[in-house]
Amino acid sequence: MNLDTLCREMPKIELHAHLNGSLSRSTMLSLQRYLADLGIKDKTNVFINEFQMSSGDSKTLLDAFSLFTIAHELTSVPESLAMATDMTLREFEEDGCCYIELRSTPRQTPHMTHKQYLETIVQTMRNEKFSIIPCLIISINRSSPNDVEMITNLAIEYHRKYPDTVVGIELSGNPAVGRFSHFLPSLTRAREAGLKVTLHCGEIPNQQEITEMLKFRPERIGHGVCIHPNYGGNEEIWQLLCKSQIPVELCLTSNVNTKSTPSYSAHHFKELYNANVPIVLGTDDKGIFATSLSQEYRICAETFGIDPSKLVRLSLRACDYIFSHDKKKTLSDRILNFINKNAL
Ligand code: IMP
Ligand code: ZN
Repeated sequence: MNLDTLCREMPKIELHAHLNGSLSRSTMLSLQRYLADLGIKDKTNVFINEFQMSSGDSKTLLDAFSLFTIAHELTSVPESLAMATDMTLREFEEDGCCYIELRSTPRQTPHMTHKQYLETIVQTMRNEKFSIIPCLIISINRSSPNDVEMITNLAIEYHRKYPDTVVGIELSGNPAVGRFSHFLPSLTRAREAGLKVTLHCGEIPNQQEITEMLKFRPERIGHGVCIHPNYGGNEEIWQLLCKSQIPVELCLTSNVNTKSTPSYSAHHFKELYNANVPIVLGTDDKGIFATSLSQEYRICAETFGIDPSKLVRLSLRACDYIFSHDKKKTLSDRILNFINKNAL
């Protein structure tokens, strides 16, 4: 089996994907047509072409945050949000993902409340028939500090109602804005209510915040770029990460395309992998970065010389880091079957 086929066919686990960053071009065009038919004025006509960031342009991580408004225009009514959720889950499914923890920030729009936003995604995940197992992580945006209590309350309410769908809470958004300490009490409350926590951590150098985050001991962190001393971190926080064994969600293309990392070969994957820090590959925003989870596995194998047997075991180990514990065995059995069938 060649590498492309292996990466597409092996069952994969996606643990770091933002809904509105994951909209593909074809999904965006369908949403645009749908909104036009409804007669909802949509300004995104011209802008869909701008919903992308590549390694060759001059856009950086901070520019990414203005791009999300393009997707947000298209998911501002419940029906188009449901379509976006459904189409995105099917794209992950077609790419060979068997389990996903999709994440999204509940948003109020002229057409729905925060609660209706959440309800729409949850019901789409629960009512449509998928072969992929969909779960939801509720996002808190660092740029909306006043929403944190309200979103935490919703997350707890929906976790109690649908514990097998709403599995976690996370902190994301522009890392240059806001302070982790502001969000800590709400995240602690969510955790005490049974939600698992993942934090975008170390996207930019900020040793104090990274220390606070790691000491909170989230169930996972995202990115972890500026932790190793060679990448803007220092020995102390690097050792803290290594000892904590907190799994890190790594998004290779996202880091390269936002210029957080100069190239694939300079990505901190290799430091984490060699130090046996638990890692899981993810796409982050597959729409903006024009990638897929199978492409991330292929790039990882090619860049770091990971052989097929080790590559598929990266996917297998991801089962240990998922937030819904009752699905671990089913998923790992499925990946083990694939390993045995293909003598990997
Ligand atoms: P949404 O939560 O479904 O609306 O997905 C888009 C949101 O995810 C953005 O507005 C950001 O808050 C967050 N996000 C997406 N990518 C990144 C990233 O690379 N770093 C931090 N936050 C991100
Ligand atoms: Zn992210």
